[in-house]
Amino acid sequence: MTNQKIEEKIELLLSRMTIEEKVGQMVQRGSAKEENVAKDKENIKAGKIGSILNTGDAKEVNAYQRLAVEESRLGIPLIIGHDVIHGFLTTFPIPLAQACSWDLDLIEEAEAIAAKEAATAGIRWTFSPMVDVARDARWGRVAEGAGEDAYLGSMIAKARVRGFQRLNEDGYPTVAACVKHFAGYGAAEGGRDYSSAEISERTMRDIYLPPFKAAIDAGCLTLMAAFHDVSGVPCSGSKFLLTDVLVKEWGFDGFVLSDWGSVNELESHGVAANRSDAGKLAAEAGIHMDMHENTYQENLKDLLEAGLISQECIDNAVRRVLRVKFALGLFEKPYTDESLAEKVNLCDAHVKCALELARESVVLLKNEKKTLPLRDDVKKIGVIGPMSDSGNAMLGCWQSWGKEESIVTIFQGIKQKISKDVAIEYARGCEFYDESVQDFSEAIKVAQNSDIVIMSLGEGAGYSGENRNRMSLGLPGQQQNLLEAIHKIGKPIVLVVAAGRPLSISWAKEHVQAIVYAWHLGNQAGNAIADVLFGDFNPSGKLAMTIPRSVGQSPIFYNKKNFGKPTIVGYIDGEATPLYPFGYGQSYTTFQYSDLVLSSGTMKKNGEIKVSVNLKNTGKMAGEEIVQLYVRDLVGSVARPIKELKGFEKLSLKKGEQKTVTFSLKAKDLGLYGLDNRYIVEKGDFKLWVGPNSDEGLEADFKLI
Ligand code: GLC
Repeated sequence: MTNQKIEEKIELLLSRMTIEEKVGQMVQRGSAKEENVAKDKENIKAGKIGSILNTGDAKEVNAYQRLAVEESRLGIPLIIGHDVIHGFLTTFPIPLAQACSWDLDLIEEAEAIAAKEAATAGIRWTFSPMVDVARDARWGRVAEGAGEDAYLGSMIAKARVRGFQRLNEDGYPTVAACVKHFAGYGAAEGGRDYSSAEISERTMRDIYLPPFKAAIDAGCLTLMAAFHDVSGVPCSGSKFLLTDVLVKEWGFDGFVLSDWGSVNELESHGVAANRSDAGKLAAEAGIHMDMHENTYQENLKDLLEAGLISQECIDNAVRRVLRVKFALGLFEKPYTDESLAEKVNLCDAHVKCALELARESVVLLKNEKKTLPLRDDVKKIGVIGPMSDSGNAMLGCWQSWGKEESIVTIFQGIKQKISKDVAIEYARGCEFYDESVQDFSEAIKVAQNSDIVIMSLGEGAGYSGENRNRMSLGLPGQQQNLLEAIHKIGKPIVLVVAAGRPLSISWAKEHVQAIVYAWHLGNQAGNAIADVLFGDFNPSGKLAMTIPRSVGQSPIFYNKKNFGKPTIVGYIDGEATPLYPFGYGQSYTTFQYSDLVLSSGTMKKNGEIKVSVNLKNTGKMAGEEIVQLYVRDLVGSVARPIKELKGFEKLSLKKGEQKTVTFSLKAKDLGLYGLDNRYIVEKGDFKLWVGPNSDEGLEADFKLI
């Protein structure tokens, strides 16, 4: 990001700043909804605050900016941040759902839209993408990420950064992205948010760091440190992560934001005796801005004057913050055109993109006897379940400025879709979570009076996201009993699961004819689901996270090691295999894989081989298939996973059409972190698979020589 002219401006500014003004750039405070507004405004005028978070209104932002730009001594603009996690006013599917689309271009487009909408409110910095690899569905924040795979997560991280930081009409990144939470947050013990994560350096480098590296390589301007400790070292005080890896190894020259209070929490972690120690530890580790709390505001000046932290430590942080502010053009154009919001937000083009991404995020898990798409002879449809007509649920976690009234619910989507000769009846049946069964009878009546029942069950928006961990993965409340009660009526059931995480729907897999996993799809949820149910869109989504049979299997993921007893690793009271594997998803058509060909059976250490396969649409309708390439290193200096995703391609095929898909497999991508935790590419025998998911595919062998 560095550019000589900007660096000169930074140095000139730095030379004029007092210590209070320097520390000010390292301080972020809350918006007008928070306490201390009057005091914060005074501090902005005094140059003692560098950022405000969570305001979503251009008028309010401009008012804050005027205090900084026109009333402070040096006129350094504020950078305004907010959690734009899956849309601002136009709400896209939750990130875990989007990951199931494997559609990098569409994900990028959605983030570009989110950024454009956020910028109309003066928000020029989003605390996103969240790239935490997650293998444990009990953890509430799986909803915010891209699932369990480092490769898919890395590709999506890059797409999100490109989208957010796409240049605006002034030639500046629309918003600064902030890749988070650095690092290994998804490995929280027991799926309990904020708790410790025991991660070896090798696993950290193999699994959790790659999506961060991908985001940084894509030019991500900022990064957020995580709350938790990794093997006893809190991330927000980790010199290894924040300086050795991020700066020295990766060359990151943006700035690092703490998480909300994660600097002062170093005291609670027990690695700092007080707030002052916490400030020193975080600043020296590499936290450049203190989110919302005032540990830096209250301690850094004294620490500097007492010689307990160096001037360079402060100046380095301030340089980085100023560098991002210059990169965003905030010095040139600090103010926001207040007329933009109504023209840009929720415009038709944005809503259309939300529909496209929602459709592609839907995963068809089961479709027995071709229950779907719904046939013309279906004349009476029963829509049952608490998710059917809930707008708020479809907003999912981190709703930003999304409005419930802008959501098309599942029931509305179906009602709008059916022709006039089809009758539709709705019954909620039960609440999301409470234990009442008083409404079962009404739902049973609707089922008795229907040709087919669309049951929409799952989790409300508040059941996933930050600190929304679950100790079970079943359908909450009385929903499972409702499903079984409706099943007894004997009508065909299509189960639509709307949730922020994989749910262990084992009973449903055995008993209902069709299962559509719809996550939380945002504005266009109902239209997207109706398009799938009625065949106006052929589902193409593939799971970005394994669906377990039982919560007892957590954490569960496809790229496990082979162990010493691979065939007997499991449970005496259940199968060890997943209910549905990573990469799995059905279509209304069928695809045939054939003619797997390698350009060579051997690959040199700095070489590559081409891997091609023929894909034919052997079904009755056009469809999209996500072709996946997996590799296994049979023998390494450390044990290697039984499979690793190394490539994928999503392609559309008309009925009967066939195409050849070719991957380039490079030796440099087949390496591992060896006994010394350094990346090495080793010779040896490999297997590869090309197929529709992580469980199946055409197989071939090759050697790295
Ligand atoms: C929260 C989250 C973080 C978010 C921040 C600001 O605690 O951990 O992801 O960006 O605070 O809302």
